[in-house]
Amino acid sequence: MKHIFLYGPPGTGKSTVGKKLAHNLKLPFVDIDRVIETKAGMSIPQIMEQQGEPAFRDLESAALKNLANEKESVIALGGGALLRDENRAFAEANGKIILLMAELPTLLERLHHDDGKRPLLAGDLSARLTALLAKRADHYHSFSMLIHVDGKTAEQNAHRVQVLLGRHHLSSMGEYDAVVQNNGLEQLGEMLKSSGLQNPIIVTDDNVAKFHADKLAAALRSSGFAPKVLTVRSGEAYKNLETISQLWHGFLENGLDRKSTVIALGGGVTGDMAGFAASTYMRGIAWVGVPTTLLSMVDASLGGKTGFDLPEGKNLIGAFYPPKLVLADPQLLGTLPEAELISGMAEVVKHGIISDPELFNLCSRGLDWVKNNLEEVIKRAMAVKIKVIEEDPYEKGIRAALNLGHTVGHAVELVSKFKLRHGEAIAIGAVAEAKYAARIGLTGNGLVDAITESFKSLGLPIQIPEAMLREEIIRAMRVDKKKNAKAIRFALPVEIGKVDLVEVTDLESILDDGR
Ligand SMILES: NC(=O)c1ccc[n+]([C@@H]2O[C@H](COP(=O)([O-])OP(=O)(O)OC[C@H]3O[C@@H](n4cnc5c(N)ncnc54)[C@H](O)[C@@H]3O)[C@@H](O)[C@H]2O)c1
Repeated sequence: MKHIFLYGPPGTGKSTVGKKLAHNLKLPFVDIDRVIETKAGMSIPQIMEQQGEPAFRDLESAALKNLANEKESVIALGGGALLRDENRAFAEANGKIILLMAELPTLLERLHHDDGKRPLLAGDLSARLTALLAKRADHYHSFSMLIHVDGKTAEQNAHRVQVLLGRHHLSSMGEYDAVVQNNGLEQLGEMLKSSGLQNPIIVTDDNVAKFHADKLAAALRSSGFAPKVLTVRSGEAYKNLETISQLWHGFLENGLDRKSTVIALGGGVTGDMAGFAASTYMRGIAWVGVPTTLLSMVDASLGGKTGFDLPEGKNLIGAFYPPKLVLADPQLLGTLPEAELISGMAEVVKHGIISDPELFNLCSRGLDWVKNNLEEVIKRAMAVKIKVIEEDPYEKGIRAALNLGHTVGHAVELVSKFKLRHGEAIAIGAVAEAKYAARIGLTGNGLVDAITESFKSLGLPIQIPEAMLREEIIRAMRVDKKKNAKAIRFALPVEIGKVDLVEVTDLESILDDGR
């Protein structure tokens, strides 16, 4: 049982943030102090006054231990609840602890109104709080997961806790959790069980199967499942009706019924196809995404778009069909070829440009930094995509921001006959589109330089290949937009963290940078 414990000095907002967090994650919320008061039939100041602090701490320990068998919850702890080693050991064994920290003035302002409710701070609030913080400084700083809450709303802080944890609940198209968890593959069986999912079949491709299918099957078996495995050929060239048909027949041959669950173990190609096959088999069965490429962790597995290609173009057939769970296990990227990792970084940088300047800055530290900090990169980039698709699941408006770099990028990818990887084409497209944004005065050259440098530091290309004809790219842009309309809507960068949607009629001008 893995709870989420919020801990930290009094006044950091553990209860307020905790309630928002529980709401966002659709989990129960428990305030340990309220539990103690209910059990004791008196307020904490009364317990302290009548029985003393050690007795209060005993009640606190007992209340904490009672949570061992409770359903996963968000738990707000008292400001000294983990001072006792046994309590800390219990919390560490039963969940993740997030420390909320704040500067003294922030705490003083918040605690001012709490007169009488906090016996350890009674009297000269400023002096008592300063002393308490000094006494517990080493203790508080010994927790590794921490956010500073100053200057942010409770909603913002709840969201920051979610990013730190890699935990989200999506509800605008279907209802599902998206989780980033190192070695999470081993936990998938238990996660399926707690989501009521049954009879799993693993759909994977022949590359991923070699590395991860047995491991996943063994993990599922240890949770009591008897998983089957269906392996398809890897690569975009096989993202077609023939493979979908193989999957449908494979489902039938393996006796899948309406209660079965398809587990897509692979990159975006596997996820798109397994999700689509699940959406149509027996009018729709459950599926779970276990993305194994960076691109699919931060992008393709989220948002419920499933489908396959026709000879006439990519993703022309498909359905919105959300999964029941997405589990991104950063460990799975250990076997991913470096070129695929770099390609996925194009989408990560794009997410930074759209709405996370800090992520953009982190990416600009270059490939080595990224490789050593993949978990953080995945968590931040996943959060951006989720924020956008939750606001606009069916791409009526802001979801189009995710197309930054994609209008030119898809066309370049197509004209290269897919010799350029998706991410490589997107990097080229994003630079071309940023240059256009600068030419029409939407942004400055400084932004173009920053974007270019970031892609370069990750080993991504930034120029349209010399041999590629402009006219072909423009023709491909029109085809890709599945219409012959003169105007195409571009998502153009204004600054890092801000994108504008702009209708462009004169498509020739997009690539008109003197090349
Ligand atoms: N549904 C969506 O919203 C959405 C969004 C973006 C992209 N996509 C789709 O995603 C696809 C691209 O996804 P992708 O880049 O993940 O491609 P992919 O699935 O083809 O994977 C890339 C390559 O890496 C291999 N691979 C995957 N994981 C591995 C691992 N852990 N170890 C070793 N090898 C591994 C695969 O076998 C493949 O050869 C495209 O078809 C695109 O249309 C979908």
